[in-house]
Amino acid sequence: MARIEVELGDDHADLTSHDTFVNGVPYATLDRLRREDPVSWWDEEDGRGFWSVTRYDDVLTVSRNTDVFSSAQGIRLEDMDEEETNARRTLMEMDAPEHTRYRRMVSRAFSRREVMAYEAAIRALATQLVSEVRGTPTLDFTKMVSRQLPMRMLGQMLGLPNDDSEWLVTRGDALIANTDDDFTEYVVDKVNTDDYRLLPFRSPIALELMDYANKAFAERRANPKEDLLTLLLSPMVDGEFLTEAELANFFTLMVAAGNDTTRYSMSAAMKALIERPEVRQRLVEDPSLMPVAVDEMLRWGSVTMNFRRTAIQDTELGGKSIKAGDKVLMWFVSANYDADQFDEPYFFNMERTPNNHVTFGLHSPHLCLGAHLARLELRVLFEELLPFVNDIEFAAPPTRLRSNFISGLKTLPVNIDWK
Ligand code: HEM
Repeated sequence: MARIEVELGDDHADLTSHDTFVNGVPYATLDRLRREDPVSWWDEEDGRGFWSVTRYDDVLTVSRNTDVFSSAQGIRLEDMDEEETNARRTLMEMDAPEHTRYRRMVSRAFSRREVMAYEAAIRALATQLVSEVRGTPTLDFTKMVSRQLPMRMLGQMLGLPNDDSEWLVTRGDALIANTDDDFTEYVVDKVNTDDYRLLPFRSPIALELMDYANKAFAERRANPKEDLLTLLLSPMVDGEFLTEAELANFFTLMVAAGNDTTRYSMSAAMKALIERPEVRQRLVEDPSLMPVAVDEMLRWGSVTMNFRRTAIQDTELGGKSIKAGDKVLMWFVSANYDADQFDEPYFFNMERTPNNHVTFGLHSPHLCLGAHLARLELRVLFEELLPFVNDIEFAAPPTRLRSNFISGLKTLPVNIDWK
């Protein structure tokens, strides 16, 4: 009998509704779909409908088969016309060969080797962060800890003034959390955002970020530094340069996609460690277990719950006929809890090996560029934090982001008994 450790929720939840996810991930619905209708059709109130792919094997089929399932028409559920898609395109919304060329240009900065060079800087930031909060008996872990480390690290990597990080990340949040009115007034399914349809996330806030990016790149052109922005300006493979628009879009993507994802993974992990004090204890006693535990934290959190593709030829999947032009949604959070792939998926197994989770995408040319960085930040945070925690408990129930795309604990109020 599997040891259930999470609230499984409603088994007939509406996956198209952002409100559904405020109450938790509807694991029971995803379980039922994997069992009964693994490739299921969903109508949308404000879209053309989509296929939900819920089994691990089928998610991998979609993710690796880029000749059939394209990213170029959008990777979130939102329907965009051609003009919108072209104006808002980042490397995420490209297929080969365009994607291959662009990715080769930026990937160097995110290689394991480049990223490991940041370990000392991340550790210094984590130590400082722990010293700032140590002694505070009650705090919002998301706000005071999880939000801080990725934000400060991004600022350092990009070589930006410390004081700008908060401004940047608040804007990044307004974009990626464009379905939650705690983060933006331009909530896409509540207010009319037609005026901004050509901007990333249909938000005028994207303009502020792009403007900031243009200025920062202009400064680096005049005064090159040892930072990621300068690296992005240098000629890449084949002597090519990124264009102005590519630079600004990539900057916006990093601020929007590289922050809240790591933040919410940290909070999901902390919640699991509050619920399982013995795991916390073992990690303190034997930090060599941390790298394997981090992958379980990533599977457990499954922060980017889904990504979309569009079929560009008729095909069949899970016995269903998919037509060219259909939207196909890969439910990563469902694949990560598929019992055919993960033994006792609802058990947080800190020693799970192998752990071929799809949290960063798997066998896909779009595999997360920030994967090494996110893993490193999670590991270093818990290595630096846990030895100072005697005990930790919930101070109030956590609250969740209103989004059917990002699974995030907006707040995680905790009481900590510090060492
Ligand atoms: C735990 C944290 C993170 C998670 C769960 C995550 C998840 C993902 C996933 C699933 C994809 C693939 C999207 C697709 O298949 O269409 C992706 C792509 C990407 N991620 Fe992350 N990400 C995280 C952190 C980061 C960080 C820290 C950065 C950068 C600073 C980053 C930058 C990117 C970029 C640029 C891409 C696009 C890659 C491409 O299209 O070739 N991510 N991410």
